[in-house]
Amino acid sequence: MPRYAYVNGTFARHNEANVHIEDRGYQFADGIYEVVALINGKMADERGHLDRLERSLNELSIAMPVPRSTLSLLMRELVRKNRLRNANIYIQITRGATKRDFKFPGADVPPSLVMTTWPFKFHGNAAVTNGAKAISTPDIRWKRPDIKSVALLPQVLAKQHAIEKGAYEAWMVDTDGHVTEGSSSNAWIVKGGKIITREATQSILRGVTRTAITKICTELQMTVEERPFTLKEAYEADEAFNTSAVALVVPIIELDGHKVGTGQPGPVAKRLYEEYRAYADGQRGDELAWTA
Ligand code: PDD
Repeated sequence: MPRYAYVNGTFARHNEANVHIEDRGYQFADGIYEVVALINGKMADERGHLDRLERSLNELSIAMPVPRSTLSLLMRELVRKNRLRNANIYIQITRGATKRDFKFPGADVPPSLVMTTWPFKFHGNAAVTNGAKAISTPDIRWKRPDIKSVALLPQVLAKQHAIEKGAYEAWMVDTDGHVTEGSSSNAWIVKGGKIITREATQSILRGVTRTAITKICTELQMTVEERPFTLKEAYEADEAFNTSAVALVVPIIELDGHKVGTGQPGPVAKRLYEEYRAYADGQRGDELAWTA
């Protein structure tokens, strides 16, 4: 069965889909993206992801290429055409294609919209079941990581560094020695019954999964503390984990070679994974707005 992508108004075979060589996403990383999980045929947190997509566009003064309701339909059509029930959907919007020039193009240049999707096996994901290792690395990103920009070179380098050290994720650390977040996930620790994650200011991406997990914790009367934490606190934590739309909740069992807690996936991370799955199945009521 051929695989399909969506490119500026057309569903094209994935291996034949093209964007223009003067697309500003390609030349300037002048664009934004979202990744949405499709779990058992249902999009997890679609509302939150589309809220954040609109917010990223607004921050960069890029126009929405199609109305939000159309984007939603196109996402559904893309997964239908690819016959997927468990997948990640990638949405990318750039400021469009035009002669290379730093200043914004005129209103006659439409933004580009590209979507791809690939199968993802949420059930039995080894990182979730067995836990994963992380290493720390300096956070060398620009000062607006709250915008989900496609300018991801620092995260690419961080992830590669992790892989070369035999780890799965890189935890980025600011100049004060506090953990900001993972290269493509939010970072959490558990200590003495408290679940700690950095507050969502401009220094991190406000994860959609993070928002849902925070709400779930509150409903379950688990204490969440939103504050910066140091690497030392993370080494000495009872548990650590990452959240993202790709792998949902991944226990971190080793950080910079230090065993975290027992060195096995902990009860809080395991429970939150199950609770998020139930939420994504619609068992916890409506989806949240991105900033809820
Ligand atoms: N990344 N922080 C960063 C830097 C991220 O890139 C991501 C997601 C998150 C988690 O956000 P959410 O829960 O909304 O997925 C936090 C996506 C999955 C990616 O780049 O592939």
